[in-house]
Amino acid sequence: MKQDGFRQQQKQHSLFPPILFFTYLGTLLLMSALHTGMIVGMNKAGWNDKVQILLPILYWTLVAVMLTLFTRRQIQKTYEEPMLRLADATRKVAEGDFSVYVPPVHTANKADYLDRMILDFDKMVEELGSIETLKTDFFSDVSHEFKSPLAVISSNAELLQKSGGLSTEQAEAVENIQFATRRLANLIQNMLKLNKLEKQTIRPAPETFDVCAQLCECAVQFEEVWERKNLEFEADLEDSAAVYADPGLLEVVWTNLLSNAVKFTTEGGTVTLRQRTEDGRVLVSVEDTGCGMTPETIRHIYDKFYQGDSSHATQGNGLGLALVKRILELSDGSITVESELGKGSVFTVALPCALQNAPEEHTWIR
Ligand SMILES: Nc1ncnc2c1ncn2[C@@H]1O[C@H](COP(=O)(O)OP(=O)(O)OP(=O)(O)O)[C@@H](O)[C@H]1O
Ligand SMILES: [Mg+2]
Repeated sequence: MKQDGFRQQQKQHSLFPPILFFTYLGTLLLMSALHTGMIVGMNKAGWNDKVQILLPILYWTLVAVMLTLFTRRQIQKTYEEPMLRLADATRKVAEGDFSVYVPPVHTANKADYLDRMILDFDKMVEELGSIETLKTDFFSDVSHEFKSPLAVISSNAELLQKSGGLSTEQAEAVENIQFATRRLANLIQNMLKLNKLEKQTIRPAPETFDVCAQLCECAVQFEEVWERKNLEFEADLEDSAAVYADPGLLEVVWTNLLSNAVKFTTEGGTVTLRQRTEDGRVLVSVEDTGCGMTPETIRHIYDKFYQGDSSHATQGNGLGLALVKRILELSDGSITVESELGKGSVFTVALPCALQNAPEEHTWIR
């Protein structure tokens, strides 16, 4: 309401009002009068010719400097500073922060077109923020609602399986139901986790721990899969490396990266897990000799529900890397990827070493 009142009053004002002409005219007339007075004075006093030429030049140089400084300050105050504030706010919105608010430059009775632009921007951000909230709340509510019916379907399918006496076709149908419910349960679990991380209802609980030990534990979980797919698994890790982060969340990161490497590598390929410490950061890379990605796929891999390779669409929902990205943002870490179609991919995660990030009492104990 307050903004509407502001909006109605602002049409008359412009950054260059007609009064500007009279201000400039008055200033120039005053300067010229001073110039004339100075010439007359110098003539009367009988000053020498050189001084009579140099003094007006000096005078007009000073006038030009003052006018330039005045104009520069005016442009900075009325145009550059608000535009810079708007540019900063736009960048934050582009990064997904809808809590930004840019205050108008003038009060309602002096508002100009820049104020109108700023107000429209604020309104747009408010609308975007409420759509985002609606979307995440909807996801979260629907996911919760899905949980109990899914549990019922799954337990009943299990009962059927255990009861025995099913024909081959019936057993296959029950197996399909089990597979579909597992996929849906996994999707719901990931959606809820991502939602909580985005709304920051889960906050990382950081502690100092050995990331090398954790990497080994995660890799072992994939032993059965890589043996089944006849994949070569190589590991090149330091004896230990301390990071200060939430171990539960980091486990999600390693599991997702390893599961992608295993999933997108064909039989006989190699998956390599490397870790090293460099310039106060622990670097972990997961490399595979799998199908690789096109630059277009790489651009979207961190988007929710994006799956670049449709042949593996049934083996996931495209939430893994969105989760990984969000977790690393919250853990002061980063992720990069290098990939070539048909040759393979390398995902590299960088995390700060424990001693830099941990509070005083958290020192690394082996
Ligand atoms: N190691 C990889 N090699 C080739 N493509 C990959 C690799 N990792 C990710 N991708 C591409 O990025 C997409 C998104 O990956 P992401 O982990 O988010 O989803 P997903 O693995 O398909 O499903 P989910 O992780 O939910 O099970 C994948 O569908 C695939 O196209
Ligand atoms: Mg994945």
